Amino acid sequence: MITRREWMKQAARVTAVAAMPGLLDDRALAKTPVDGIQTITGEGSLKAHAAARGLLTGCAVNADLFQNDETFRNQLAEQYNILVPENCLKWNWLRPTAETYSFDDADRLVAFAEAHGIKMRGHNFVWHEALPRWFAGTVNKDNAEKYLVDHIHTVGGRYKGKIHSWDVVNEAIWIQDGRPDGLRTSSAWFEMLGPGYIDLAFHTARETDPSALLTYNDYGIEYDNDEEGKKRAAVLSLLRRMKKDNVPIDALGIQSHIHAASKDGFSKGVRELTKGAKALGIQVFITEMDVKDDGVATNDIGERDKIVADVYRKYLNAALDGPEIKAVLTWGVTDKNTWLNNGTKFRKEHPDRPQRPLPFDADYAPTPAFFAMRESFDKAKKR
Ligand code: XIL
Repeated sequence: MITRREWMKQAARVTAVAAMPGLLDDRALAKTPVDGIQTITGEGSLKAHAAARGLLTGCAVNADLFQNDETFRNQLAEQYNILVPENCLKWNWLRPTAETYSFDDADRLVAFAEAHGIKMRGHNFVWHEALPRWFAGTVNKDNAEKYLVDHIHTVGGRYKGKIHSWDVVNEAIWIQDGRPDGLRTSSAWFEMLGPGYIDLAFHTARETDPSALLTYNDYGIEYDNDEEGKKRAAVLSLLRRMKKDNVPIDALGIQSHIHAASKDGFSKGVRELTKGAKALGIQVFITEMDVKDDGVATNDIGERDKIVADVYRKYLNAALDGPEIKAVLTWGVTDKNTWLNNGTKFRKEHPDRPQRPLPFDADYAPTPAFFAMRESFDKAKKR
């Protein structure tokens, strides 16, 4: 049997290259699951289909691939109109010591985005994870506020005017910690500064880069089940409380790490989020979408890809039903690099089976998820 990759190469040689010599390479054409040959770059790209509906579409960028893989960089430029660094704006990457900053990777990516007319998201200023090793021994109750404010001034200031939206605070709700408002207490920032760290971070971000849309970003809020319903309600009441207190908040980021094998739906949950955001006058972004397929029983790659694509289609159709969501980003580009395959934490059922959660396979051929994303963009109302 001919592989999709070989098929694409043949298709590219035989058909469209003749019509548009020099414009297409073997990444330009692909066979869709149903419609035969389609162009997947230019007018066929994710960004062209998204832009036709007033949407941004993008992905998280892995710094190593970005530096070492030209095909990866081409893919970014061809397919996306917004990018977010996967890790290189996090504290542990940016702050090798308490006194120094390491901006090389972020600078390179921001310059690339500028050169290609691509927008950038910033991720993130405040998170309970990804803190550098020196942090615990250096930052304490007395100086935590200064560290937080200085960090936002320095990092936000460096990229001032170049960032579409900043994830100012990431994952601040954790119901299991037991507070009535759902705030995560198991966070160094909460331990040192109390609940006020959230407002402090947003006020500081606004004064540092007034043109960036300031975003609260969280996960585990999408599904129509009790657990996620509770977390969703806590996130929405945090946003309401912030609005009431005049804290500058412009957007909600729904991470959207979805499970292909889940029995729960998400249509109601996602609409609750978009409606809640609309009532507060804030935008919504899908910031980190991917679809775990570890729980899918079959090992057949074609079947797994189809199941994953169906989840993309259902999720995006529900999410893009109203006009609130302005951007759809996946957490990665190619199945050759996804955080879901880092170790076996997310591969409990099939530890030896690499997951296939993204719109391109390891050879950069589009997966059925790519076509599902495009179809959902086409179906969405213009915003
Ligand atoms: C993940 C990265 O993908 C990994 O490479 C890193 O080791 C840990 O962080 N939610 C987030 C992201 O907000 O920052 C996380 O990214 C994935 C979950």
